[in-house]
Amino acid sequence: MARELYGILQDMSDTFEFCGFIGNCNEPSFLPGPLLGQDDILEELFKNGIGHACLAVGDLSIRKELFLRVKRIGFVFPPIIHPKSTFVGKGHYIEEGTVLYPQSLLMNDITIGKCCIINSGCILTHDVEIGDFVNLNPRSVVGGCTKIGSNTFIGLGTSIRDSIKIGTSVTIGMGSVVTKDVKNDSLVMGVPAN
Ligand SMILES: CC(C)(COP(=O)(O)OP(=O)(O)OC[C@H]1O[C@@H](n2cnc3c(N)ncnc32)[C@H](O)[C@@H]1OP(=O)(O)O)[C@@H](O)C(=O)NCCC(=O)NCCS
Repeated sequence: MARELYGILQDMSDTFEFCGFIGNCNEPSFLPGPLLGQDDILEELFKNGIGHACLAVGDLSIRKELFLRVKRIGFVFPPIIHPKSTFVGKGHYIEEGTVLYPQSLLMNDITIGKCCIINSGCILTHDVEIGDFVNLNPRSVVGGCTKIGSNTFIGLGTSIRDSIKIGTSVTIGMGSVVTKDVKNDSLVMGVPAN
């Protein structure tokens, strides 16, 4: 994810200036940009005028914990909206830290909470509400008037019927077709998803 987000930020270099990566990394040479250090340098960076951060962490609970910790220092998490994502109509509300990948398509009246990943090829049709810390993986399609709870992971290429409620802390396996509401804390997969 760090490499993907770096690519997105490179495409947006007229908006964001990339300073470097922070965190534990066993193979810094794998990173496409400089590793500035571990989390303990965050306060010093903030004092030196670096005020924006972006989380490149796939695990949803770790992402939440880091978001709260880094925000307490004072960092701001701008939403990162790739210029090749598409908005149609009105009523789009995207909260802090959320990343829209290229080729994501948002129709009218879409609300997306904090620190979500809306990956490439995802389609959110009208009146969709997504909570905080949600991963919507590539080519997933969400039908109209659907709600997705916080801390939920939706696997690659999932289709979710219209007017569905997906609870919090749910995992949906890749390629699933969701035809019914999904309870909190559940794992469902398959066609139809069970
Ligand atoms: C659903 C998921 C989380 C389950 O992972 P897991 O607990 O490691 O499960 P396993 O791979 O051990 O598979 C367990 C069983 O479920 C089946 N299964 C796994 N994922 C499935 C899916 N998406 N749909 C239908 N069946 C699935 C496996 O075939 C296996 O069946 P078996 O016991 O008959 O052999 C995982 O398969 C998945 O879909 N992850 C999402 C991947 C993804 O989208 N990544 C994003 C990358 S950008």
